[in-house]
Amino acid sequence: MSTVSVLPVVSSRKKVTTLTFRQKKERGEPISMLTAYDYPTALAMDQAGIDSILVGDSLGMVVLGYENTLPVTMEEMLHHSRAVARGAKFPLLVGDMPFMSYQVSVEEAVRNAGRFLQTGGMDAVKLEGGRERLPAIRAIVEAGIPVMGHLGLTPQSVHQLGGFRAQGKTARAAMRLLEDARLLEESGCFSLVIESVPAQLAEYISHQVSIPTIGIGAGAGCDGQVLVSHDLLGLFERFTPHFVKKYANLHDEMQKAFAEYITDVQSAQFPAAQHSLGMDAAEWSDFLQAAGHPLA
Ligand code: KIV
Repeated sequence: MSTVSVLPVVSSRKKVTTLTFRQKKERGEPISMLTAYDYPTALAMDQAGIDSILVGDSLGMVVLGYENTLPVTMEEMLHHSRAVARGAKFPLLVGDMPFMSYQVSVEEAVRNAGRFLQTGGMDAVKLEGGRERLPAIRAIVEAGIPVMGHLGLTPQSVHQLGGFRAQGKTARAAMRLLEDARLLEESGCFSLVIESVPAQLAEYISHQVSIPTIGIGAGAGCDGQVLVSHDLLGLFERFTPHFVKKYANLHDEMQKAFAEYITDVQSAQFPAAQHSLGMDAAEWSDFLQAAGHPLA
């Protein structure tokens, strides 16, 4: 039986940049993006050939166990950004600006965005919101930092939106989203996440702006797709959004492996001889003698 590798062959890769994003849109090549929060996951994604990794503030929910993304701090984001940057060399790395790191003042927004590049190892930042965020976006872009926008369901506004609900479902709301997308483009965003909006609206917006749109729960008409990796891997057991395709069920796999380990320890099946280190017989005998053991 022949063993055929299912991993894509990723030869002579070049670092993905914001320019690559734009070129991919021009060529009609879909952009692949996933979230990651740690070194081994980032490494595996890089080796699989992902275009871009988002260190999302979804970190708060899927890794840190918070109810929503609001408690996530800059320090937590930077800590995980650095781990991802150590694992991923080729993808465009985007750091998600956490709640209250860019809303208070333009100065704070620029300083915090700068930290993602200066100490977090990221190539760009993402922040949520439309017209109300233009001053911060313009200032961050002027500082030379690439900004990815985020429209539609913006999880940091979960209380204002009345829950994690789809957006842009009325003509009026759809018009506002289109206007916001144009404003974000004019303000210098290099790309735009569109989350949980009707597929035909996301596709329409994607045709109306020159910057690449990255959809999540926004249908197939966007220029790229992003998913929270813990959803795709079946690692987040609290809920799975309807738009997620689960490629694995690692929560169950982990639980199974842990249960087997516990059984092995309890029944003394682990560690076996091959998991243990022996000692040179002469050294052992010298040791017993030095220790005054009766067998020596
Ligand atoms: O934090 C995150 O993971 C995100 C994605 C849902 C786009 O913002």
